[in-house]
Amino acid sequence: MEKKIPVGILGATGIVGQRLVQMLEHHPWFETAWLAASDRSEGKAYGEAARWRMKTAMPSRVAGMTVSAAAPAGAPKVMFAALDAGIAAELEPRFAEAGCAVITNSSALRMRSDVPLVIPEVNADHVKLIECQSAKRHSGGFVVTNPNCSAIGLVLALAPLQQRFGLETVMAVTMQAVSGAGYPGVASLDILGNVIPYIAKEEEKMEEETRKLLGRLNGSGIVPGGFRMSAQCNRVAVEDGHTESVSVKLGRKAEAGEMVAAWNEFRGVPQEMELPTAPERPLRYVEAADRPQPRFDADAGEGMTATVGRLRPCGVLDWKFTVLSHNTIRGAAGAALLNAELLKAQGYLG
Ligand SMILES: NC(=O)c1ccc[n+]([C@@H]2O[C@H](COP(=O)([O-])OP(=O)(O)OC[C@H]3O[C@@H](n4cnc5c(N)ncnc54)[C@H](OP(=O)(O)O)[C@@H]3O)[C@@H](O)[C@H]2O)c1
Repeated sequence: MEKKIPVGILGATGIVGQRLVQMLEHHPWFETAWLAASDRSEGKAYGEAARWRMKTAMPSRVAGMTVSAAAPAGAPKVMFAALDAGIAAELEPRFAEAGCAVITNSSALRMRSDVPLVIPEVNADHVKLIECQSAKRHSGGFVVTNPNCSAIGLVLALAPLQQRFGLETVMAVTMQAVSGAGYPGVASLDILGNVIPYIAKEEEKMEEETRKLLGRLNGSGIVPGGFRMSAQCNRVAVEDGHTESVSVKLGRKAEAGEMVAAWNEFRGVPQEMELPTAPERPLRYVEAADRPQPRFDADAGEGMTATVGRLRPCGVLDWKFTVLSHNTIRGAAGAALLNAELLKAQGYLG
């Protein structure tokens, strides 16, 4: 059996960091070898530092590991990052300059022109932007990002439509789970029995990231998708799973059956390459009139399959539908893991 690649996790004690620890436990290629978080956690055993929020038990091997300082000395060359954006902006370039492959969930560097923002089923070719990063030339290190947790579900649903019919206009209204705000996140008194129609910077992220993801690699940059896009983001009292109500105007007329076929037949590089975290189907369409729902559909494909439903004509644009995806799996840890698998399969992880 091939030796596993040792990996580190920056922000290992947070919600996404914990999901990474959980998903890495039985990973065939990668092994958790190093953990870091803030100075609040540094020096403690992981089992003591992390307030474990996953439904499976904390892996005992990881529970006994000591949380390191968030500095490159002694860190493995493959790093997953799940840090708050402010500190990520400072630390991620530092790890890349030290020669690490940094595979990150944070928004800090997503929109930088030389940083790939990747959903492997949608735009695996954008990974080539790594070659434009100065760290890659100096030390071999680089940064690859995965998108905002709402942009991922939306883009998975839009990609097959863009490929087959073209896209002119997209309007999306989100209902986002509380786990998307990290831990402890939104205070229970603010969210129970309530809807909060504001998530800081979320609408801007969805609009610009969606265009970058569905854009075209042009040498050393991305030409953003040319469609018009408007997002409205709401926080709702759901534990896991972001639901989005979407209206689209397509480049050419499409029948409902053609759109459902586009979603159900959609496959990408991870499925072709049989990457370990790739779901059999990145998308599935459900016919039931009252689905998708977070409670029943967020875990589809072990959290890696986005579910689309409720396709019907839109009185303003062409069509409207609902899409749901698991925000901490497909929207965060699973997205980073799939990016890492793509990088390994393409020879970027040594
Ligand atoms: N939750 C989601 O669904 C989701 C989805 C997509 C992307 N993201 C992004 O992923 C990142 C992590 O999100 P999260 O939900 O896991 O947040 P979180 O639960 O608040 O965790 C934040 C992590 O960052 C660490 N940290 C904070 N300040 C630090 C510092 N100065 N130096 C080193 N480590 C520090 C924390 O360590 P301590 O425990 O020691 O404080 C903790 O491990 C964020 O950028 C977020 O926007 C989250």
